[in-house]
Amino acid sequence: MKTFYIETFGCQMNAHDSEKVSGALVNQGYSEVERPEDADLVLYNTCSIRDKAEQKVFSRLQQFKRGNGNGKVFGVLGCVAQQEGERVFERAPHVSLVCGSASYSKLPEMLVRLEAGDRRVTGLNLDTDETFETPFTRRDNPHRAYITIIEGCDKACAYCVVPFTRGPERSRTSASVMAEAARLAESGYTEIQLLGQNVNSYRDPSPAGWDFATLLARVGEVPGIRRVRFTTSHPRDFVKEIVDAIDANERLCNHVHLPAQSGSNAVLERMQRLYSRDDYMRCLEWVKNARRKIAITTDIIVGFPGETEADFNATLDLLDWAQYESLFSFKYSPRPNTPALRLDNPIPEEEKGRRLGILQEKQRAIQLRLNSNLIGTLQEVLVERYNTATGQWVGHTPENRTLNFTSSNGHSLVGSYVRVRVTRAGPNSLVGESVAHPGAFQET
Ligand code: SAH
Ligand code: SF4
Ligand code: F3S
Repeated sequence: MKTFYIETFGCQMNAHDSEKVSGALVNQGYSEVERPEDADLVLYNTCSIRDKAEQKVFSRLQQFKRGNGNGKVFGVLGCVAQQEGERVFERAPHVSLVCGSASYSKLPEMLVRLEAGDRRVTGLNLDTDETFETPFTRRDNPHRAYITIIEGCDKACAYCVVPFTRGPERSRTSASVMAEAARLAESGYTEIQLLGQNVNSYRDPSPAGWDFATLLARVGEVPGIRRVRFTTSHPRDFVKEIVDAIDANERLCNHVHLPAQSGSNAVLERMQRLYSRDDYMRCLEWVKNARRKIAITTDIIVGFPGETEADFNATLDLLDWAQYESLFSFKYSPRPNTPALRLDNPIPEEEKGRRLGILQEKQRAIQLRLNSNLIGTLQEVLVERYNTATGQWVGHTPENRTLNFTSSNGHSLVGSYVRVRVTRAGPNSLVGESVAHPGAFQET
């Protein structure tokens, strides 16, 4: 029996790609092992979004160079593979497979070549209009399933590697997305997360011609599906119809992740984000004026070249106005091939760190206040696991807040929807108790 090990870095798109790759391998007669030491084939599905992410895979590969990699076949998949191409073989000579995400549908053939002893197998073609679909996907979570609806990116943000590592945008047909959603519901999944680098740029390539808001609304009508999430939305393609769809159907989670990157027009322009601060705020106003309360989260980059103190303050000001439920914040990291490399006035690392600290502290206070407002409220949680260390069940609310709670119910709650009263709030999570009286305690 041939064995494989796969470690995944990066975003949810990568996580889901790994589920598809694993499925394809199992279908080829491989079985998965937990430790790289035990595997014949060791795969790293890599991320290149920031330099730190890229370095991780090379330090992993380095560990094996010193000794215990003998007889194993090493493969680098994903965004570093696409970005570095054959250079990976120079940087890590024990690697035999380098394959970007646009070539995964060719993996079965590549495996055959590896098994035949070929030590330089590559899949680096980006000029494909294919999406990676396989009937063999092995999903890690039995209750929540990812569905990739659009791959690649047609934007050209000045700092970003994704257009180079994942190629041009390709949408799946609405029929294949709907069929997958229905199949998932039949096999017991209750939560679906629609994925794309810019999920709302979705354009149905079939004659049906659905836009993203239509697809979202239809997935929300699939019998058996209780929650639909989607990530990541791009402000440029964000339309009010998305908010209307969420308003019209409780099964569409009341959460929108809408990366701002900066609150300064000058920076947004140099980033080539294709929207102004006002455009962005208009999108958030649609969300804020919805009938349902919709949680908003975002991504921010600090220290982009030329970012002045005034630009940075404009971002802090946006945080005050938007009142994000949470945010991911990053120091700008210069990336290969990107236009931002040519911009003047780089911000020193130390100053980037200072700005990141200020931003995160401000956001922490906002989150603590927003979360504290929820003390005493009832929230619905999809239970993911039991934390033996704390004696609490862990799950997420529709707004995607983490809620840790205790329950007097004796049996396992994993996979069920439970009503929980919030008793305490921290900046990053809530604590509560399940509501146990009949009628209010809902378990499915
Ligand atoms: N397509 C999404 C985001 C994809 S990448 C969008 O356009 O919003 C996820 C996040 O990584 C980005 O939102 C951005 O905040 C961050 N990021 C991307 N490139 C970066 C870089 N070179 N340095 C620092 N952060 C970066
Ligand atoms: Fe990168 Fe911009 Fe595309 Fe997002 S929209 S993936 S930040 S290039
Ligand atoms: Fe990273 Fe590639 Fe995703 S660069 S964030 S794994 S698209």
